[in-house]
Amino acid sequence: MRPGQTPGGRPMSVQTVWLGIRWTSEGYRRESSAGVVVPQMPEALTSLAATAIHDVSAMTEHLRFDEHGNPMTESFSPDMALVNFYDHAAKMGLHQDKDETCQAPIVSLSLGDTAVFRLGNIETKNKPWQDIELASGDLLVFGGPSRMAFHGVPMTRPGTADPALGLSGRLNITIRQTGLP
Ligand code: SIN
Ligand code: MN
Repeated sequence: MRPGQTPGGRPMSVQTVWLGIRWTSEGYRRESSAGVVVPQMPEALTSLAATAIHDVSAMTEHLRFDEHGNPMTESFSPDMALVNFYDHAAKMGLHQDKDETCQAPIVSLSLGDTAVFRLGNIETKNKPWQDIELASGDLLVFGGPSRMAFHGVPMTRPGTADPALGLSGRLNITIRQTGLP
């Protein structure tokens, strides 16, 4: 894992591995880069995300169709994931996921320590926002009207992970569809 970088190029406290497609501060890149290994996107993550979209689209009309009016269950085709590791001090500032060229929902899976996930509004980094506790095993889908919401992790709750996991800290797996051709 490597410390991530903000779009402005500053180091992040979260350490990240990309799967499937590389992220750079200029956007996603399929081509590899010297010294950077991008493992394939595991089928298990693709199908987990597809199942999540299937279930959620049955629950809310907001995620039933994509921006072109096609059923989300058919058009959703995630092609990359970020695996973020949070040690006890790590946090992630409020940001929008806006490098994707399509509006497919983001599927986010949490493992290990509980996180305070801040879900803000779509206009500014300021309030109003909602703080949601994401515990190990929680899966969050944000799409439709919330797709461009500012979000971040102001803190995790160290020591809350189930010791059986053998994980000190938090892993977040964020599964995305980049829209790259
Ligand atoms: C992210 O926005 O990339 C990660 C959010 C999280 O760790 O829950
Ligand atoms: Mn994000």
